[in-house]
Amino acid sequence: MDKLVIEGGVPLQGEIRISGAKNAALPLMAATLLANGEHIFHNVPRLRDIRTMRNLLAHMGAACRHEDVLHIDTSDIHNLEAPYDLVKTMRASVLVLGPMLARHHRARVSLPGGCAIGARPINLHLAGLARMGVDVKLDHGYVIASADRLRGALITFDQVTVTGTENLMMAATLAEGQTVLRNAAREPEVVALAEYLCRMGARIEGAGTDRIVIEGVPELSPSTHTVIPDRIEAGTYMVAAGITGGNLRLVGCRPDHLEAVTEKLQQAGLVIETHNGTIDVRRDRPIRSVDVKTWPFPAFPTDMQAQFMSLMSLGDNVSTISEQIFENRFMHVLELQRMGADIELEGRVAMVHGVKKLSGAPVMATDLRASASLVLGGLAAEGTTEIHRIYHLDRGYEAMEKKLSAVGARIWRKREEE
Ligand code: EPU
Repeated sequence: MDKLVIEGGVPLQGEIRISGAKNAALPLMAATLLANGEHIFHNVPRLRDIRTMRNLLAHMGAACRHEDVLHIDTSDIHNLEAPYDLVKTMRASVLVLGPMLARHHRARVSLPGGCAIGARPINLHLAGLARMGVDVKLDHGYVIASADRLRGALITFDQVTVTGTENLMMAATLAEGQTVLRNAAREPEVVALAEYLCRMGARIEGAGTDRIVIEGVPELSPSTHTVIPDRIEAGTYMVAAGITGGNLRLVGCRPDHLEAVTEKLQQAGLVIETHNGTIDVRRDRPIRSVDVKTWPFPAFPTDMQAQFMSLMSLGDNVSTISEQIFENRFMHVLELQRMGADIELEGRVAMVHGVKKLSGAPVMATDLRASASLVLGGLAAEGTTEIHRIYHLDRGYEAMEKKLSAVGARIWRKREEE
């Protein structure tokens, strides 16, 4: 197992290229199950979660090749199962359920179970499929689902769910008649998926709003698409510039996907300028403490909460951070405290009292975004920080230590036993 070693205190300077978004690529990969043949995706990041999805598709019979571009050939899908071993390492595996049912009429998918950031059930995915006429049973930890043909339906989500919206939107593309998804997720990744489905021949309107209308079509065909830039990776490096008092240019990003994050970071004292696909970020004054609440897009994303907390731990006052999406997404708090942060936790609210400095310490990564917050803390801290269990980071940040060392960070990946 690898660890990251960081010697903090260097203001980062230079340019970072943003990779394709993991959470946009995963649903595109699942969508390949909707049409036999070769699908081609550009700008797919090289990440563990992408490999897991490739393994899952390969397990079902797809032929996958990831060179400069990702090719997925779904001409020979014969195994309609997503086994526990794959689903337990990546919840997003559940995205294959909708496409399998729509195209192949049956599916056996392991229930994902708990995860580090909360219970995260898939009841809303299943309730939606049941409304579309799918027979859903739970058996020995698996969802066993079947339907001769899916029927369009009116589905109102009790709660905004990103992968739930994606799963049902994919299922509806081949259903009989019209499906209306209400209280749908508006995330850019949902819009990107709808764009690809339309390229495949689907009829979808309203993606990016909370009401998506899908007219089922008899058949879809494979196509080609480019994955949108990762807004959370970009947001993480914006905080890296801010927390180290540096000056970074982020290229290949979509500033319009980052408006809520940009606004909060500006309130915190960062200077941010956006141009076509580029974000310039610097800080040359003290960090101001500001409050933040996570909420679905277009509000402040839960996937940036931990990173923002690292920044606030060096704020000039007190910041209240409320996590409204996941009930247990504060695993980074105890680790940041080990680095000298002063944070009080009460339920889903953290009160972050700014301190003058963080100090390097051995810490443990617990989930993807929590790990990123520890890297950010380490970049700003005095002395050496060792981050253990960084396989979480490898799930979602492409070449993080390479990108950071190229802008001046003293960061190294080492084997645990060294
Ligand atoms: N929920 C239910 N029932 C459901 C579905 C969701 O109660 O059937 C609840 C969840 O427990 C949670 C809330 O609804 O409290 C929202 O969860 P959502 O379904 O939106 O999360 P997700 O689709 O499983 C995606 C991202 C996450 C990101 C969330 C929220 C992917 C592959 N994952 O998860 O990304 O945090 O949306 O924006 O798109 C990450 O990249 O680190 C990550 C965790």
